[in-house]
Amino acid sequence: MVRLETSFQVRPMSGNIGAEVFGIDIRDVSDEVVAELREAWLEHLVLILVGQEEADPSDLGAFARRFGEPYRHILFPDTADPVHAINVPAGGFWHSDVTFAEEPPIATMLHARRLPAKGGDTMWANMYLAYETLSFAMQKFVAGLTARHDFDHFYRYPMGDSLETDQFVLDQKRLFPLPAHPVVRRHPETGREALYVNESFTTRIEELSPSESDAILELLNAHSTRPELTCRHRWSVGDLAFWDNRCTMHYPIDDWAGSFATPGQSSRQMNRVTIQAERPVAD
Ligand SMILES: [Fe+2]
Repeated sequence: MVRLETSFQVRPMSGNIGAEVFGIDIRDVSDEVVAELREAWLEHLVLILVGQEEADPSDLGAFARRFGEPYRHILFPDTADPVHAINVPAGGFWHSDVTFAEEPPIATMLHARRLPAKGGDTMWANMYLAYETLSFAMQKFVAGLTARHDFDHFYRYPMGDSLETDQFVLDQKRLFPLPAHPVVRRHPETGREALYVNESFTTRIEELSPSESDAILELLNAHSTRPELTCRHRWSVGDLAFWDNRCTMHYPIDDWAGSFATPGQSSRQMNRVTIQAERPVAD
């Protein structure tokens, strides 16, 4: 256990990303603790706040507001409450959340309420290091590029034809037609540069030909997800993950769908809230 000068304890999850946090109750945190948590979050990129069994969705929403405005998810538009439940497999791909929007959320919180007997871990990758561990020549090459992001690319499978008919989705497509983001973005709080492409939503590097774009995106995706740049969390009920979408990707491991703990119910329920829209910038 690494003891920092904080009112809670922090234990790193791997050499390069992620930390578990002990000694916090999200229902009762002072402004000082919130400031300390933000510092730890910026340092470790992903925090797992352990032991939040007692927190309900409104506690989660209130805690999220301490870090920014709750974000209205493009695909969960009807809920007035920004906290929504996820109880179906929703992963199997590396991504950062909602990069298909002009202003994606800077952070996501995911709170484990019910878990399968086995499986359903989540992985994260450190996108600062993904950029920094490229060769200098490759860093220079990708730093000036921009890429298109499109939710159709990923949601076609779970949403099917409703992508063509859902009025809110159609409106969003009109409002945000394939936003272009810098391939390397500067984090406004840390000043560090991070790679910002992902296999789920990034469809095309604008300055390259289609075949060049495919090859470079494949290279960057493979490079970003090397085990050395990642951590993996095995969930316990009450864990609250809090990650920075500006400098991480995550991978929900969909190996749990057949593992039903309660007949007739999904064996996994996570409550989720995303926080604070922000336009990615290169400098
Ligand atoms: Fe996600």
